Amino acid sequence: MNEHGSADAARTPVSVIGLGAMGSALAGAFLARGHATTVWNRSAARADSLVAKGATRAATVADAVAASELVVVCVLDYAAAREQLEPVAETLAGRVLVNLCSGSPEQAREMAEWAAGHGAEYLDGAIMTTPPGVGGQDMMFLYGGSAAAFAAHRDTLAALGDPINLGTDPGLACLYDTALLGLMWSTLTGWLHGVAVAGADGVAATAYTPIALRWMTAIAGFMTTYAPQVDQGSYPGDDASLDVHVAAIQHLVHASEARGVDRSLPELLLSMIERAAADGHNQDSYARLIDVLRPAASA
Ligand SMILES: NC(=O)c1ccc[n+]([C@@H]2O[C@H](COP(=O)([O-])OP(=O)(O)OC[C@H]3O[C@@H](n4cnc5c(N)ncnc54)[C@H](OP(=O)(O)O)[C@@H]3O)[C@@H](O)[C@H]2O)c1
Repeated sequence: MNEHGSADAARTPVSVIGLGAMGSALAGAFLARGHATTVWNRSAARADSLVAKGATRAATVADAVAASELVVVCVLDYAAAREQLEPVAETLAGRVLVNLCSGSPEQAREMAEWAAGHGAEYLDGAIMTTPPGVGGQDMMFLYGGSAAAFAAHRDTLAALGDPINLGTDPGLACLYDTALLGLMWSTLTGWLHGVAVAGADGVAATAYTPIALRWMTAIAGFMTTYAPQVDQGSYPGDDASLDVHVAAIQHLVHASEARGVDRSLPELLLSMIERAAADGHNQDSYARLIDVLRPAASA
């Protein structure tokens, strides 16, 4: 640690356990920033190209853990991580374990307890990019868990992307990750549905998409307006009421039907808007749909 309480990032050695597509990218990013990087993978040959770039190959998981205070694990899932780490649990004492496997918030919280039980500081992370994006400073890496570990290693973790500290709950990174992936799938499917509708009338996806991207900026503004409405439980429909949305989405259902485009997405959305409107909220804003989505007890 230096006088500011953070480790000297340029000299912090790192161990990376798991060298699939993502683990290899993580190890490569640490190497590119000049960190002494020790690597281990179940199939040893996957370490070869990293070793050629200067990484140190660990013969065992225990050797990999023992090589660095900062240990990053990125294997298929939590079960695989536990399978590898449990036999070497005593080696983790006094180290910082950063788990970047994808999983559920419940798995993350359980793993944090397990790590604490073996004397390790624990950070659970979510990688909001694909391997080619690792190292890009605009790519988000979300973390939850030990505040001390984040403070000490923030600069080292910045080799991977922009490290964002969500708080001390180790489940938060997985929670955000799964919610954000839901946003990605909904957005991509909505975009592809529009591509199909426009494409049926001869509009190329490449012509439609720049206009769709300008629209996404407006949608981001709607989200910013609606977030405080959700938090405050007050949904003034002065921009566009649910009645207006019902009328508009019926056009999309009809336009889809007339072109032979699948209607299941707009019909699902229409049914949700109608449910919210039928509960007497037809003059409320679109954000009122939160009551359809979340458990009744929290509404
Ligand atoms: N790829 C992405 O775009 C992306 C993005 C965000 C998050 N992630 C997450 O990153 C993690 C790794 O993904 P990946 O893309 O690197 O997957 P991958 O290319 O399929 O690699 C899987 C890795 O897990 C290892 N593994 C699987 N089961 C194991 C076990 N029982 N014991 C030890 N090692 C085991 C594999 O080792 P072997 O080489 O020996 O098979 C390999 O190193 C996943 O949790 C994934 O959800 C990936």
